[in-house]
Amino acid sequence: MIPKISSSEITPKSVYLSRRDFIKAAGVLAGSLALTACGVAAPETAGPTSAAPADGTAKSDEKGSPATSYRDITTYNNYYEFTTDKAGVADLSKNFATRPWEIEVGGLVNNPGKFSVDDLVKKFPPEERIYRLRCVEAWSMVIPWVGFPLAGLLSAVEPTSAAKYVRFESIFKPEELPGQKEPWYPWPYQEGLRLDEAMHDLTILATGLYGGELPAQNGGGLRLVVPWKYGFKSIKAIVKIELTAEQPATLWSSIAPNEYGFYANVNPQVDHPRWSQKTERRIGELSRQATHMFNGYAEQVASLYDGMDLAKNY
Ligand code: MTE
Repeated sequence: MIPKISSSEITPKSVYLSRRDFIKAAGVLAGSLALTACGVAAPETAGPTSAAPADGTAKSDEKGSPATSYRDITTYNNYYEFTTDKAGVADLSKNFATRPWEIEVGGLVNNPGKFSVDDLVKKFPPEERIYRLRCVEAWSMVIPWVGFPLAGLLSAVEPTSAAKYVRFESIFKPEELPGQKEPWYPWPYQEGLRLDEAMHDLTILATGLYGGELPAQNGGGLRLVVPWKYGFKSIKAIVKIELTAEQPATLWSSIAPNEYGFYANVNPQVDHPRWSQKTERRIGELSRQATHMFNGYAEQVASLYDGMDLAKNY
């Protein structure tokens, strides 16, 4: 989406996963060999986080779409703080430390605070959520995230009655993030949601994927995932969450407001000014497929937008 301008060996996993998923992930190696032979999307990289389930079936979403391979998820990335080259993010981010990771939650709340991700996962036990991710650039993936609903954290800090929106801010560290030395973007990356969108059960803070930790290139230490919106809403490396009365500015809508709106709901009926949004290319698959309203999550989220003109509020 180039704009016009140019711990211990076992404890962490048992914390990341529900017991059932943990037991599944523990037998990964045997399972992934068999899956590769069948040609099913199985992790191609070695390592403890390239987990596929050991029960003989590949992971898939609630519609039966197979999960994108661990390799594709971790080597095809949009992360402009590192580079605009999708294939270059993994290498450039390999020394980026995702622990310890702290976030500050404040603004219009009764209980502001600083939280470490390690504390958050103890308080809000992560679960696996296999979601489709639809990038505004018309490619998509199916990603087995590990995370917890943002609603739990927001409820804990108690938004005041004046709070209507949630603003998210990514880390700003130009000495480690070479892309932040480029003058083209108004760093730090920032995003926002309406409070009811942020409180929706589908909205999660991701702390892992494929049963393991969240790699730096996918937004570790902590990343937002809002599956019915274009991928750019799912802000990576969050260090600050702020409850506000006004709709917050967002990085992409401040650079190119006619191309990227605040809502950014996946919508095949509203084309991007420079390309169609009717179809998408699922990474790892050959043919294109239809894009669905709200990325296929309409049943759960359409009512959030009752009475709104989604062509105007794009
Ligand atoms: N968050 C930050 N901080 N910086 C970014 O450049 N890119 C966004 C989003 N979150 C981005 C970001 C875009 S455009 C997309 S499509 C997704 O991250 C890509 O997530 P992935 O690399 O895990 O697939």
